[in-house]
Amino acid sequence: MRKINLGQSGLMASPVALGVMRITALDHQQAVGLIESAHDGGINFFDNADIYGNGESEKIFGAALKDASFKREDVLVQTKVGIVSGKRYDFSKQHILEAVDGSLQRLGLDYVDTLLLHRPDPLMEPEQVAEAFDELQNSGKVRQFGVSNFNPEQVDLLQQAVSQRLIANQLQLSLKHTGMIDFWLHTNMHDERSIDHDGGILEYSRLHKMSVQAWSPFQYGFFEGVFINSPKFPELNAKLSELADKYHTNVNAIAAAWIIRIPGNTQVISGTTNAKRIAQVAEAGDVTLSSQDWYDLYFAAGNDLP
Ligand SMILES: NC(=O)c1ccc[n+]([C@@H]2O[C@H](COP(=O)([O-])OP(=O)(O)OC[C@H]3O[C@@H](n4cnc5c(N)ncnc54)[C@H](OP(=O)(O)O)[C@@H]3O)[C@@H](O)[C@H]2O)c1
Repeated sequence: MRKINLGQSGLMASPVALGVMRITALDHQQAVGLIESAHDGGINFFDNADIYGNGESEKIFGAALKDASFKREDVLVQTKVGIVSGKRYDFSKQHILEAVDGSLQRLGLDYVDTLLLHRPDPLMEPEQVAEAFDELQNSGKVRQFGVSNFNPEQVDLLQQAVSQRLIANQLQLSLKHTGMIDFWLHTNMHDERSIDHDGGILEYSRLHKMSVQAWSPFQYGFFEGVFINSPKFPELNAKLSELADKYHTNVNAIAAAWIIRIPGNTQVISGTTNAKRIAQVAEAGDVTLSSQDWYDLYFAAGNDLP
């Protein structure tokens, strides 16, 4: 699979990544099988968070990584901190430092390649985050930094305080969650799709060379379900099947290819727990949709152009 320069940081990442939010469904051998299948398919990027499975996901992933057929140094490991599950978001220096130590311990690693702040905390003091980032970088615990679910002003607020360039923003994006594309296309119209839900985060990310990492690439709504093969979306699924034939691949790969066709070193974070499915999704890394096929998928998902 080709590699992208993640947020122009020099980290060469596969455009298709594996997220392990759901990995608690697997036993150790299945988890090893999943990450080995991802790696065999060309995936070198793995997304964690301290809150997934209340820390269990990082443990399962870390143990699988130890027993996998590939080396830790050959892949990029990301985690996210900043949410205290069910209680609050916490970007205090103390919490960030303690949370990263907890993640490294559960993962069984000395460092992560990238650290994201998971969801914006209104009580964020950017200078405190800056101190935390400096300590984490100087101690070698974190190589690069980014954010998740931030709008442009929130990124600016943090970026003006931290000395590291923020390289990625993980955001919900799929063929059935297209707010940032709708807003781009419907600029200055008065229809529903012209509503700015995220401050123009796609335009901002491209201007500032931050990679968008698309979470829940096969879901509609907020974890309402999978749109692939769902009878609720016949037109979209017919188009996905047609293009899977045309590009000699599968429907999941086409839905993922739609995301990574968006310029700006975009990445797709697949959350499958199925070793066969991750091999199928990985095929997206070698598919470049034509411009018309990209637009046709957007239309089949129920959208139009002004
Ligand atoms: N930053 C954030 O706020 C945030 C939020 C949510 C998620 N994330 C990250 O994004 C990653 C992906 O999220 P996600 O797991 O919601 O995304 P996803 O890849 O869209 O969904 C994965 C789920 O869809 C199922 N699925 C996929 N294709 C299918 C098909 N063709 N038929 C039937 N089922 C299918 C999978 O089942 P199988 O396991 O059986 O394949 C799995 O249950 C997470 O692991 C996490 O790393 C980040």
